Amino acid sequence: MPGAIHFPDDLPKLAALLRAGEVVAFPTETVYGLGGDAGNSDAVLKIYETKGRPRFNPLIVHCADLAMAETLVEFSPLARMLARFWPGPLTLVLPRRVDARLSDIVTAGLDTVGIRIPDHPLAQQLIRAAGVPLAGPSANPSGRLSPTTASQVDRGFHGEVPVLDGGPSRAGVESTILAVTGDTVTQLRAGALPRDEIEAAIGRRVAVAAEGGAIVAPGMLSSHYAPNAALRLDAERPETGELYLAFGEPPRTATGEVLNLSPSADLREAARNLFSMLHRLDEMSDSIAVAPIPHTGLGEAINDRLRRAAAPRP
Ligand code: TXA
Ligand code: MG
Repeated sequence: MPGAIHFPDDLPKLAALLRAGEVVAFPTETVYGLGGDAGNSDAVLKIYETKGRPRFNPLIVHCADLAMAETLVEFSPLARMLARFWPGPLTLVLPRRVDARLSDIVTAGLDTVGIRIPDHPLAQQLIRAAGVPLAGPSANPSGRLSPTTASQVDRGFHGEVPVLDGGPSRAGVESTILAVTGDTVTQLRAGALPRDEIEAAIGRRVAVAAEGGAIVAPGMLSSHYAPNAALRLDAERPETGELYLAFGEPPRTATGEVLNLSPSADLREAARNLFSMLHRLDEMSDSIAVAPIPHTGLGEAINDRLRRAAAPRP
């Protein structure tokens, strides 16, 4: 049953497809994921093929609950403390259990696994119904904008992938990725869970991985999440021919189309709108100017995605 957007009634059928080694796009609170059985290498290869991802990078493995996660990775006391954010927009990179039922392609041969329990009822129901953890990168062709609605997924893959429609993603940017090694917590990717909230909860600092450091994640490539249009960042106002993506009060001189990430300058609302609005502006124009966004809290992830979207393309 290719190509269609599916509603919860079809969940058992989609779960059966996953068990049979097919890929299915599913909703999460961050962005839509392109899911496949994490224990089945053919299914994982289909994920790469569908995305057109040029090289194998480790994928996040989505679990329905902590019990499922515990079959795959080892939890230190510090990792357990961080797992309190689950279900939620946090991915923990933890040591792989020797007996984990995981394809080596999922981990790209690493001895660690990126694990996450998504906070979306349909994601959890789908994983439970499939009965297997789901490998799941964002459900977009490689390098393009991440999808926050079922119809964006459908357009991105030209109707060739079944999509479970769970409505618009609540958070709108990908999960925060943390590596936990011994007593050290390192943020590999800024995301929907702000670093300051994590630090407050665990009572210690979270280091930030150096760009181009030892652990490289594709989300850390300098050009990623890219629209077709050229992006100009930190723009106080649009220039002639540019569409404007505002944040807070838009400039009075703004002409042409203006979309506003958050008229009340709320970072949560801005994160939720970010990819959808970039998708819309991208369809309307070749040049987009984006207002300055504060770097605090969720602003770290928003500015990270904007920087990559604006970077020169390879
Ligand atoms: O919010 C999200 O995280 C979304 C939704 C669908 O869950 N998923 C997502 O997956 O953004 P993806 O594949 O686009 O990004 C996964 C990132 C990659 O940058 C990958 O390199 C990193 O996680 N990653 C996964 N496992 C890793 C590991 N063992 N060590 C280091 N990085 C890892
Ligand atoms: Mg992605």
